[in-house]
Amino acid sequence: MIEKPWEGRFTEKTDRSVELFTSSIHVDKRLYAYDIDGSIAHCKMLAHTGIIASEEAEKLIEGLGAIRREFQRGKFEFDHSLEDIHMHIETRLFQEVGKVAQKLHTARSRNDQVALDSRMYLRDETRTVIRLLTALNAAIVSLAEEHIDTIMPGYTHLQRAQPVLFAHYLLAYFEMFMRDSARFCDCFKRINVMPLGSAALAGTTYPIDRHYTAGLLQFPEVSANSIDAVSDRDFMIEFLSCASICMVHFSRLSEEMILWSSTEFGFIELPDAFSTGSSIMPQKKNPDVPELVRGKTGKVFGDLMALLTVMKSLPLAYNRDMQEDKPLLFDAVDTLKACIEIYTAMTPKLKIRKDRMYQASTTGFLNATDLADYLVGKGMTFRESHSCVGKTVGYALNHGKELHELTLDEMKSFSPLIAEDIFSVLTPEQMIQRRTSFGGTARENVRAAIQTARQRLADAACP
Ligand code: ARG
Repeated sequence: MIEKPWEGRFTEKTDRSVELFTSSIHVDKRLYAYDIDGSIAHCKMLAHTGIIASEEAEKLIEGLGAIRREFQRGKFEFDHSLEDIHMHIETRLFQEVGKVAQKLHTARSRNDQVALDSRMYLRDETRTVIRLLTALNAAIVSLAEEHIDTIMPGYTHLQRAQPVLFAHYLLAYFEMFMRDSARFCDCFKRINVMPLGSAALAGTTYPIDRHYTAGLLQFPEVSANSIDAVSDRDFMIEFLSCASICMVHFSRLSEEMILWSSTEFGFIELPDAFSTGSSIMPQKKNPDVPELVRGKTGKVFGDLMALLTVMKSLPLAYNRDMQEDKPLLFDAVDTLKACIEIYTAMTPKLKIRKDRMYQASTTGFLNATDLADYLVGKGMTFRESHSCVGKTVGYALNHGKELHELTLDEMKSFSPLIAEDIFSVLTPEQMIQRRTSFGGTARENVRAAIQTARQRLADAACP
């Protein structure tokens, strides 16, 4: 039976069911490398300030190094009676270096230790997420570059609205993912604060040097209030909010991939390597990747809601409830990274069916606004032209024609202002070319936007 570091005041052994219930080692073992790095820095600080002797610190650091190698070789043994990663490493250190191990925890509590480990972990993962988003955005911009001439119908209310360049549509997602990336960069600043040295909640009586530890662990800032430092999980909630917003974008993109790869739309074909079949219907090619991304969105929202709920009524400072933060955080990190990665791999392989997209943008009266604008150009007010074109559309519908399929005489019967030049106005190419307002879909705008996007990606500094 291994002795628990805290069992001094107890007269009874912990019930096995309680050990299993309270243990978090299966989850927080993931933090082992951060726990060891944090402990080594703490050790160095204790020696630096003369709280322990430097020979003692050396012994501890050596022992911690040996434990790290044990983890790396998969040889570290876990035991639920030791609750969490912190107690596992401390106990193992005792077996490794003897009594001096008991000095490691001087001026420290598991409360500030777990806050430190979580922040170090999330700091790394946030950097990874930002890097992955940059790679995804590069893939999106490359696909946009290939499709500077691909025309598709743009939608509102999922009804055909006006033609746009497919590149323009893709760059809309580029903007969303760039904002996500910026949000993660901003969130990073608040993750990157060092809580160690807050001890249980009140600080410590030892003459520690928190800034020294922070320097060793590359934290630019030290938390200012010990009570806050051990109670705060805002940095996780903020990360989960950023992740949720990012998943909203993935979910919308996925919804479109699913719709567009259907026979009804037929705008894209998903690569075979990213699709699956049906066990009963031989003809099926299912969009499981976007469907799963759409589904996983719910899970990430759930992680955010769960952590908000865990934290919402907790009195200061640390409460054991907070141990429930890690499964939520880890799940969201894993899910988000997996979604970004799969989209980065799939995007260059999408088969874009330009002909189908083009065809769809020539039917469904996508040029009605342009006919109205044409009439305004000839002197009509927009309200008048709107109603005039509405009547023309009604007529065309009754005759099974598109606006550009009407004869000049038919058109003239709705307004004498309409002349021969109308036909060049109503083509999708011309409609796109005229939308030169900044941020609009005209080809030259989109070409410039692609250039700017490349520059923005090159300039994007990862924290
Ligand atoms: N396993 C704990 C957690 O994840 C570590 C902190 C434990 N602190 C305590 N006072 N029991 O929150």
